[in-house]
Amino acid sequence: MNKPKLCVAGSSNVDLVTTVKRMPQPGETLMGSAFNTFFGGKGANQAVMAAKLGAEVTMISRIGTDSFGDQYYENYRENGLILDYILRTAEVPTGIAAITVDDSGQNAIIVYGGANQRLKPADVDLARPAIQAAGTVVSQLEIPLETTLRFLQIARESGVPTVFNPAPAHELTDDFFAVTDYFCPNETEASLMAGMAVESFDDAERAAKIFLKRGAKAVVITMGSRGAFYKSANDQFQVPAEMVKAVDTTGAGDAFIGTMAYFIAAGAPIRTAMLNASHAAALSVQKMGAQPSYPPYDECDFSDFNSR
Ligand code: RIB
Repeated sequence: MNKPKLCVAGSSNVDLVTTVKRMPQPGETLMGSAFNTFFGGKGANQAVMAAKLGAEVTMISRIGTDSFGDQYYENYRENGLILDYILRTAEVPTGIAAITVDDSGQNAIIVYGGANQRLKPADVDLARPAIQAAGTVVSQLEIPLETTLRFLQIARESGVPTVFNPAPAHELTDDFFAVTDYFCPNETEASLMAGMAVESFDDAERAAKIFLKRGAKAVVITMGSRGAFYKSANDQFQVPAEMVKAVDTTGAGDAFIGTMAYFIAAGAPIRTAMLNASHAAALSVQKMGAQPSYPPYDECDFSDFNSR
């Protein structure tokens, strides 16, 4: 298999993670049982996941000139990402995420965007050669909306498949759907953006129809422990989630997206890409943190392209 090439435009956050027995109520103070910092951010997580599998990944992101920014730059280097479009901004700090993880592995996250919010369409224009050379591009919504849109537009003009993870959920104009090959929300984001509850595969099908009608070529809705749902104009299926004991679900969705994009860029059928994505996500929830929990290729039991 050729080394898949990806280009990712998105956020870089330092995750400040406190572990608690249960989530606090509004107004309540709780004592945490552990505290850790990890490298996170949806964009960076997806990029690092694909790089750990062996992809050549160009990352387009902004970090601060603060010490978190220095540490983040080093993290990108250690993970082998192409750093040409890791930009630094002195005016605001590197993005952070305050994360609480409870005993069941569930999380609550508040993101302060910081430097991520300074990533502008002009920054993405600079990276046009990397976008055009990619086998697949990936973006999300932790950077300004207009930056994500410009990135997806350049990829579409260049005939490069686009994976768009609309997270965190946001109201979107049809322009976004018009340049999206794979529209990939989780069930909560799908529910907010489709304006209906998404609690079952039947609901996911109804929501997917709305996104297809708005212009997406295909829709992938991840549904946590239930698995994931795919729909395009002429195909529809579900893939199961692997049943494992979760210690921390933070970044599991990003492991799914990064792995799926890796296999799309490698030329795998979408069902195989999703099955393998589900496998990587299941491995990731069994360890703490987002990026440190992502498995390298040789620790995964992936299916061959045509075996399932
Ligand atoms: O999807 C998980 C990520 O969301 C975390 O790493 C955090 O930084 C937030 O962006």
